[in-house]
Amino acid sequence: MRFKSFFIASSLFLGLSQLSYGQAGTIVGSKHDFSLSNNTWNFSTPITAQLQGQICRPCHAPHNTNGLSSWTNDNAGSFGPLWDHAQSNANYTIYSQGYNFWKEGAATIGSPDGSSKLCLSCHDGTVALASFRTYTGTTTMAGFDGGAANLGTDLSTTHPVSFTYNTALATTDHKIWDPSATPSGVHSGTIQTDMLEYDKVQCTSCHDPHNAAGVNHLLIKSNVGSALCFTCHKL
Ligand code: HEC
Ligand code: HEC
Ligand code: HEC
Ligand code: HEC
Repeated sequence: MRFKSFFIASSLFLGLSQLSYGQAGTIVGSKHDFSLSNNTWNFSTPITAQLQGQICRPCHAPHNTNGLSSWTNDNAGSFGPLWDHAQSNANYTIYSQGYNFWKEGAATIGSPDGSSKLCLSCHDGTVALASFRTYTGTTTMAGFDGGAANLGTDLSTTHPVSFTYNTALATTDHKIWDPSATPSGVHSGTIQTDMLEYDKVQCTSCHDPHNAAGVNHLLIKSNVGSALCFTCHKL
């Protein structure tokens, strides 16, 4: 009898912990899990050997990382957190505010900077995916998996990134929420604290490369009913 309740209690505990693990989300098994068991990048043999079945390696390494210095952003001096992936030198066509018929707000869109540059080092299709450390791969995003995740270098067809979204912009553009006063629904903070990087909209305003939320497309929160869009847009 005592054994039986022990088993019930422990399986209940296991069930609950698995549930919260699933809800929390994880990079493991996501499209950003680059470990050997999961990758279909067709790395050439020496690169596969260097990857050693690790998940983080193409993006970060613990020591002697690339340390590229041309990330001219508020994080001046380093390209990204222990960043190990080769950088893209592409020139981008940026989003045009010409569509802003009401001429309200109109944020000043800059060339990609901050973590958007990190994303584009794979997602603009110009740098081979398996280019980290001293290795240079051959397959770019353009030639990978049908190219669905290849945004290209023409970013006029993608949501604007790398621009300041602050209270001043929300004062002139009445169709967006004040980022410093609006809850994000991502963590317990505001749009500004949870979704912006140095007050800027970046790829990471909508995506988490580590899939913490466990939502499709590595989104930071569910976009069912366009909930992600409505977080910032007031329509
Ligand atoms: C596909 C590329 C990619 C992979 C794989 C990846 N990361 Fe990241 N990581 C990023 C990017 C881009 C940033 C900077 C933007 C951000 O903070 O989300 C970052 C930031 C971080 C940071 C600092 C900011 C934070 O979120 O705390 C840590 C720590 C980190 N990653 C750890 C890891 C670990 C550990 C792994 C492997 C289990 C991993 N990452 C795998 C792309 C990646
Ligand atoms: C090391 C290269 C690399 C970097 C850096 C990288 N990605 Fe990816 N990403 C990939 C690959 C490979 C895929 C899978 C593409 C496919 O299957 O078509 C992918 C897939 C995705 C997807 C689609 C996920 C899905 O389930 O549909 C999103 C969204 C994404 N990445 C966003 C980002 C963002 C945002 C960043 C930066 C914060 C980033 N990636 C950085 C390589 C990278
Ligand atoms: C304003 C929010 C937002 C921003 C900013 C954003 N994305 Fe996305 N992205 C989404 C949503 C939502 C999806 C899900 C697919 C859809 O609804 O079309 C998506 C899908 C993707 C996909 C998967 C495409 C596919 O069909 O497999 C990739 C890759 C991706 N984004 C990369 C990026 C990168 C890289 C950046 C920065 C340059 C970025 N995203 C900026 C919202 C955003
Ligand atoms: C993190 C906040 C944030 C999220 C999430 C977000 N946006 Fe935006 N979006 C903005 C800001 C800020 C602007 C620039 C507004 C301006 O220039 O006044 C913008 C610009 C736009 C524009 C261009 C407007 C123009 O005048 O050219 C469109 C369209 C748009 N977003 C649609 C979307 C859609 C669709 C989603 C959901 C997939 C989304 N946004 C998610 C903050 C966000």
